[in-house]
Amino acid sequence: MVKVGVIGAGGYTGLELIKMLINHPEFELSYLATTAGDSMIEQLHPSFAGVVSMSVEKADANSVIKHCELVFLALPHQASMGFAKEILDKGVKVVDLSADYRLELDTYEKTYCKHEDKAHLDDAVYALIEYYREDLKKTKLAAGPGCYPTATLLGILPFIPYIDTSAPLFVDAKSGVSGAGKKLSETAHFVTINDNIFAYNPLKHRHAPEIAEKIEKIHHVKMNVNFVPHLIPATRGELISIYATLKEDIDPLEILKKHYAHDKFIRIRENPVDIKSTAGTHFCDIYAAKNGNGLFVNSAIDNLLRGASSQALAAANLMCGFDEGMGIPTIAYMP
Ligand SMILES: NC(=O)c1ccc[n+]([C@@H]2O[C@H](COP(=O)([O-])OP(=O)(O)OC[C@H]3O[C@@H](n4cnc5c(N)ncnc54)[C@H](OP(=O)(O)O)[C@@H]3O)[C@@H](O)[C@H]2O)c1
Repeated sequence: MVKVGVIGAGGYTGLELIKMLINHPEFELSYLATTAGDSMIEQLHPSFAGVVSMSVEKADANSVIKHCELVFLALPHQASMGFAKEILDKGVKVVDLSADYRLELDTYEKTYCKHEDKAHLDDAVYALIEYYREDLKKTKLAAGPGCYPTATLLGILPFIPYIDTSAPLFVDAKSGVSGAGKKLSETAHFVTINDNIFAYNPLKHRHAPEIAEKIEKIHHVKMNVNFVPHLIPATRGELISIYATLKEDIDPLEILKKHYAHDKFIRIRENPVDIKSTAGTHFCDIYAAKNGNGLFVNSAIDNLLRGASSQALAAANLMCGFDEGMGIPTIAYMP
């Protein structure tokens, strides 16, 4: 068994990681931590009562080194790199769910803040599993992609060779409120979001540069990404609608089926997708259609799982030589 830990055990993605790790056949959950510590996991998450009982410590790099061979950092950006830089050189593998190791230095510093662990940035592998599987098998540091970039990139990447990349790409995204994490805010307030839907940070959300950078890295083409996220009155789930201009006459569903023929967690759908069919799972469902040279790509994920924790677990599986799908949830929360 490989000993693993979770720092940020009190948050939403931390909770999802723990739920999968307690039943994982090859990982032994041996360390849980929060900023304050001195608690039990069933106190932090009462849904664990009668299921799992484990102490939660005050997060400390030396304890991680003592207890873990791999650690998940379910922390905000900046907090993650503070831990990662101390842990990595001691031989502990790191899967970071924050933005700290996702981007090139320049993109990161323009979008987030000054980077405090430049030494490890080049070692990080972007954990968009279907595109970086082989690199993940060799790395000690996996950088979990953003939730919106995960669903957007999985949808649009197969089409980049067939679209006019000089035209703007329009990405309309909708997310459940858990995408913003556990802490309360005016926008996540029940009265604000109930019976409501609204755009936030249109055209200047932090995930736009991430999407553009990864399209450029994978397809060597710069695109003008116009990304508009919306908040919807749902707990979890993300639905992406992408609009692009085709430069070739293609069958969009055939392109998708061929591209993802060997990827068991990508489901190509014959009809528009919905968030509920992926909620509780690692699947990304994708549909596409065209009207003349107009292309519509539609993808759906569970932001907390494929958009964060199950993608992090799939990366950890690969980093430790296990099957990518080990311990990964596949049954959706239906009805
Ligand atoms: N939610 C999503 O759908 C999603 C998707 C993809 C990626 N992510 C990324 O995953 C990371 C965790 O997200 P989350 O949704 O789990 O967030 P969350 O619910 O807010 O949990 C984050 C946890 O980090 C802990 N923490 C430790 N140091 C902190 C600090 N300096 N400032 C604030 N909190 C600190 C907080 O609790 P304590 O201080 O008590 O330990 C909190 O429980 C973030 O980087 C987020 O961007 C989230």
